[in-house]
Amino acid sequence: MPRKIAAGNWKMNGMQSTLSELQRLEDKHGDADIAILICPPFTLISACEDTPFDIGGQDCHAAEAGAHTGDISAEMLADVGASYVLVGHSERRTDHGETDALIAAKSKAAYDAGLIAVICIGETLDEREAGTTLDVIDAQLAGSVPDTADALTTVIAYEPVWAIGTGKVPTTDQIAEVHAHIRARLQDRFDDGSEFSLLYGGSVKGSNAADIFGVPHVNGALVGGASLTTADFSPIIAALEAA
Ligand code: 13P
Repeated sequence: MPRKIAAGNWKMNGMQSTLSELQRLEDKHGDADIAILICPPFTLISACEDTPFDIGGQDCHAAEAGAHTGDISAEMLADVGASYVLVGHSERRTDHGETDALIAAKSKAAYDAGLIAVICIGETLDEREAGTTLDVIDAQLAGSVPDTADALTTVIAYEPVWAIGTGKVPTTDQIAEVHAHIRARLQDRFDDGSEFSLLYGGSVKGSNAADIFGVPHVNGALVGGASLTTADFSPIIAALEAA
């Protein structure tokens, strides 16, 4: 069975004072039997060391080390206690022009450092309206998931770009169609394609989480805004535990 993962991507939010929120989360969910992954900004990763949660970076460089001012390597993330890293988030693809090939290279860097890569994919609104969603997903899966991926080292997050931070959520039928498609592609390509965890991301809230987690091949969520407070994240975690 794919593992259930409730993942919070804090994006460019969070100060040292925010860490008290993690203590509140630990009080409620410290002994959860699903994986809870927190991806704080780089500046807070080492301060998260003592939490019972899995910790991830939000990006890494494809190289191990060297002259890359402002970048962070996968090995550096592992060194401060991270066990996951997000790669290919749509905000990286858009803000930093990241390509599928670069995302594949970053994923390989993650594997080399012993990190699990959460590879993010998803279509824009124009692509959905043009009816090309599944083609986009195919191209992103083919280009950004390395051939060396397996279910232990790789999680796929489907995040339709138009659903991120907008309050717009695909219908459960739309999520079902894409997740079933991703699962089928992974099964075609990898012996353990049935075991990869597939996360949905984009405006997940306590109010819609149970419906989303009821969709076949949805094994968890990658949550942005609603992961910033325990009050908002806790009902999502509870819905995943109950799913
Ligand atoms: P929101 O949950 O704020 O829509 O963000 C989703 C996301 O981009 C998580 O990576």
